Order: sequence, then structure tokens, then C-alpha cells
Amino acid sequence: MCGIVGYTGTEAAAPILLDGLSKLEYRGYDSAGIAVRNGTALAEVVKATGKLRNLAEKIDNGAALPGSCGIGHTRWATHGEPTKINAHPHVSGNATGSASGPVESDVVGVHNGIIENYEELRDKLTRNGYRFYSDTDTEILIKLVDYYYKKYKIGPIDAINRMMVRVRGSYALALMFRDYPGEIYAARKDSPMIIGVSEGAAYLASDVPALLKYTRQVYYIDNHQSVRILPGEAHFFDLNGDEVDMPLTEITWNAEAAEKDGFEHFMIKEIHEQPKAVRDTLNSMIKEGQIDLSGAGLTDEMLQKIRAIRIVACGSAWHVGMVSQYIMEDLAEIPVRAELASEFRYRKLLMDPDTLVLVISQSGETADSLAALRVAKEKGYATLAIVNVVGSTIAREADHVLYTVAGPEIAVATTKAYSAQLAAMYVLTVQAAKARGRISEEAYRGYLEELQALPEKIARTLEDKERIQWFAAKYANAHDIFFIGRGVDYAISLEGSLKMKEISYIHSEAYAAGEMKHGTISLVEDGTLVIGVLTQKELLEKTVSNMAECKARGAYLMGLTSYGNYSVEDSVNFTIYVPKADPHFIGSLAIVPLQLLGYYTSVARGLDVDQPRNLAKSVTVE
Ligand code: G6P
Repeated sequence: MCGIVGYTGTEAAAPILLDGLSKLEYRGYDSAGIAVRNGTALAEVVKATGKLRNLAEKIDNGAALPGSCGIGHTRWATHGEPTKINAHPHVSGNATGSASGPVESDVVGVHNGIIENYEELRDKLTRNGYRFYSDTDTEILIKLVDYYYKKYKIGPIDAINRMMVRVRGSYALALMFRDYPGEIYAARKDSPMIIGVSEGAAYLASDVPALLKYTRQVYYIDNHQSVRILPGEAHFFDLNGDEVDMPLTEITWNAEAAEKDGFEHFMIKEIHEQPKAVRDTLNSMIKEGQIDLSGAGLTDEMLQKIRAIRIVACGSAWHVGMVSQYIMEDLAEIPVRAELASEFRYRKLLMDPDTLVLVISQSGETADSLAALRVAKEKGYATLAIVNVVGSTIAREADHVLYTVAGPEIAVATTKAYSAQLAAMYVLTVQAAKARGRISEEAYRGYLEELQALPEKIARTLEDKERIQWFAAKYANAHDIFFIGRGVDYAISLEGSLKMKEISYIHSEAYAAGEMKHGTISLVEDGTLVIGVLTQKELLEKTVSNMAECKARGAYLMGLTSYGNYSVEDSVNFTIYVPKADPHFIGSLAIVPLQLLGYYTSVARGLDVDQPRNLAKSVTVE
């Protein structure tokens, strides 16, 4: 996890670094630090624990740290607690880890990732006279570069390359060398990093939003590549130290997309962006009344040949897989299994050779999903990725990519990316159903119409938000909440429950409605909130019966259904309605009130909605 930034140019570096870090805080926010060089002077390092604002206050929003070349870091602790000593930047010198002020070290750096063979490397470096002040693997990485730099005296790129050959793990690493003022060196393997250039300046960052304000011209650096940046220039090198040409890419997102735009939190802004995210995603795949997946290189022949689909993902993306499992089996009649990426990796894969492995990921960087993709490729399976971040590692490594068009998502709890992923899966399902002859031309057109009506229906669902806000305020002190449903409704319950617990810290569980009575119902007591997702007409009555069993034991019931199912009101205490829609796709509407419920509950409890404790948006550790 963690976010890194770098800047070299003619402006004051510190405010640019702080601004960039503020756009990356979603990646980690337990401590932060920056190092800035003023001309040939030594680098000044400042660190602070807690949120970025603590660091900003300490350096007077950057004014106290002059200089036009620097690097910065926002941390999500992996090795070592979130203390000031463990905060980045780290330095190659032996006793300067907690220093604020000029550092005598030859190398100073920031790192996102995890080094696996750190113990062995620490022993090697200790034998060579290095001492360690922190508990971090990053300090080892920086001292290893310093060791090679001094031993071979060939220069920064050579030292970095030797480090890359020696280290196991993942890293996006940015370094400043005392002998090279105005320059930043960087390297990456399996952790994201992009390089931006503009007239007289160069930047690096873990993610696009950090750069948007300054440049849209970026390079995606490859695994095992290193880069030297100096004002207006970026030079890339392979492991042999030979310079390589990298293509320059233009980012199409605009800077406002990464701002709050008058909303109180990113999460509520992103909830409101869902009609657009879904519309843009659908429009990218439906052209002139026909689904067109040629952008991803997916042909009807390929869809016909598939014997099974294994969806692999983490978190909410896995929940999208759970919804897809029901609708793909129903419409396209392909056996589908949605599996957690962290589990998929460690099992014997007894899959038909014609299985498509489909990875879903907003960031395209989630470590477990990436590892699962690699396992699948290694074993010769065809792979397809549904990804939001263009140029991300998963997007680059999968055989085929379908991009969601949700724009940058900043809140840690995903909303619009989840909805865009669902939309992409619907399109893929309908096309697979058609290609495999499972639906008629008329049904195909009907499903397309249903899909294209979704954005407007999501917008209508959002209009009912005051009622949910009221309900959230009433239940903000709940201890336990159960979300139950069957089929697609169960899959939606999984996401509703996650939204609730991750930002409100209220314990909640999603249960297949029929399973409550096999154990979990013993947790229901007076006042326990049970939320039934009731959009699937033929399953609805059964779930209502399961809710009644909870009510008989004291539960308070909320029902979430579509207009028309008015009998639900007779059985539950509080009802929320969403517009009618085809049952395969109605999950896209049902999830909206549940996102709002999680959001307003978190707000009512006075919590940090966008940056909930212990979490990070992009999870690049296994
Ligand atoms: C983190 C985020 C979740 C997300 C999951 C998978 O846990 O907090 O919101 O669903 O990672 O992320 P991905 O980028 O692969 O979709």
C-alpha cells in the first residue's frame, strides 16, 4: 500500500508534494513524510505520524521547506508500527532515522511495497557495517542501494539495478542521491508508479490523481525498469542499464474528477456519480444498438468456446463476481464460480482447459488478484480483466481487458467503481448469451434497453436519500446488523453489509436468507436490525418468511424492494423502494440505498467516511 510522490523542477517542491500526497492519502494515512533538496544542499527530511495535515502543519504547508526537488510518502504500515521513526523517507546513514532536518546520508528514499527477503538482506548489510534504526523493510532497501552505489561506484542506475536483482518482493521506490542534485531515481516491480513530465518539470506518483493538476503526459514504468527524472525529462533503463524508449500516454481524466466538487465527502460524491459511471461504461461497450467488445479483442467465437468461467477478485470486486455468477449462469448458461483471489492462488486448479479466468479489479493493482492472474496465465488459461485504472498492472498483463469508465475513485469504500463493474459484467453476460445462442434477437434487444435505462433509474433511486438519512440517524447506534437475501439479493447483501461495516464500524453480516436458521439466528435479540433485500420476485416471499422468523425473536425489519411489491410493507417495519427493472440487473438499483445507509450511518457517528481506520484503497500486500 502507501502512496509515493516526487517532483523536480523550478517551483517549490514541498507544496506540490503535499498536494500530491493529499490525492494519495486513500492509499494509507497512518503517517507521512517528505524530503526536499534546495539546490546542492543536503536533503531536509520531515515526518509526522497521523494524517497528512499533521505533516503539513509542521512545515507550514511547505513554506518552511525550500527547494525544488523532493520526494514524499503517505504510509499504511506493514513492517513496523506507525511511528515517526518508521515513517518514510528513510535514509542510508546509520543514525538519522528520526531526524527532522538536513540528513548526511548519500541516499534518501520512499517506498511502496513489501520486501520478502529483508531478513537475509539485513544480515548481509549488518556484516558490512550498516546499522538499522527502524523496523521497516524500506530502510533495508535503501541501504542495499547505498551499499552497491559505494561498492561499484558506477552510479545510481547501476546500484538500483543490482538491488533489483537481489531483492524479492514488490516495490515502487523513489530515491534522491546526494551527488545528483535536482534528480530523482525510481524503480518498480509489482507496485504502481507513473512518471509525468511537463515543461521544465517532472513528477512521479503511485496514481494518476496526484499528477492531474500538473500534467496529463505520463509514462507507465514497467516492472524491473528504473528511471532518472530531471526537470522536463525522464530517462528509462532496463536491468542491463541500457536506456529504453517508453511511450508517452495522455491521461483523459480531468483534474476536477479528483476533487470533492462541493460534496462533503468523496464517498457521497462518488455515489452521485454512479449514473454517469454506469452510462459511460455501457456506452464504451454498446455502439449503435449492438454490443461491441472488439476493443478488448473478444470475439463471439471466443465466447462460444468457453466451457466455464472462474471469476477471481477481492473485496467489492468479488461481490460483483457473486452477482455475475447468478446472472451469467441464468442468461448465458455458462458454469461460473466466483472465488476470492487470495484463495484461488493456493489450491489445485482442477479447471477445464477452456475455462476463462476473469479478474475484476478497480485499481488493477491488488496483490492477490494480480497473483491469481499470473497463476492462471502460467497454467495456460485464457484471461480477461475488468479494470478501472488504465495502464495498471492487471490491465497490462491480462490477455484481454474491458475497462470500466468510472473515473478516479478516491473514497476507500468503493461505490461507483463497483457499479461500473456490474455494468461491464451485464454487457459481457448479454453478449455471451447471444453468442452462445441462449437468447433470441428480441430478448437481446430487450436486455440492451433495460441496461440503457439503468443510469436514469439509479439517478431516481438517489432522489430518495432523505428517508435513508433519517433511518441511518435512527440506527446509528446499532450493535449488529444482518443483511439477508437469496440469489442476486444475497450477492447484493454481501456488498451492503461491507459498506456498512467498513465505514461505520458496526458489526454486520450478510447471510443467505435461508441460512439464518442454521445458527446465526441465535444472535438476533430485541432491536437487532435485519435488512432484507427483496428484489427477486420468485424468492421474495421466502426471504420475507425468514425475516418474520427474526421478527419473532425481537428483530426490527427493513425491507428493500422494487415498486409494485407493496405487500412487503405488511411484514416489515420500514420499506425502501427502488424503480422496477429486469431482475438480472436490479442489483444495480438495490445497492444504492445500502451505500447511502452505510454512508449516512458513518456520518451520523462522526467517523472519517473517506478514510476509515485500518483500511486502504489499493491493497498491494498479500
Ligand atoms: C480494497 C478496497 C475495496 C476493494 C478491494 C479490491 O480492500 O478497500 O473497496 O473492493 O480492495 O480492490 P480492487 O482495486 O482490486 O478492486
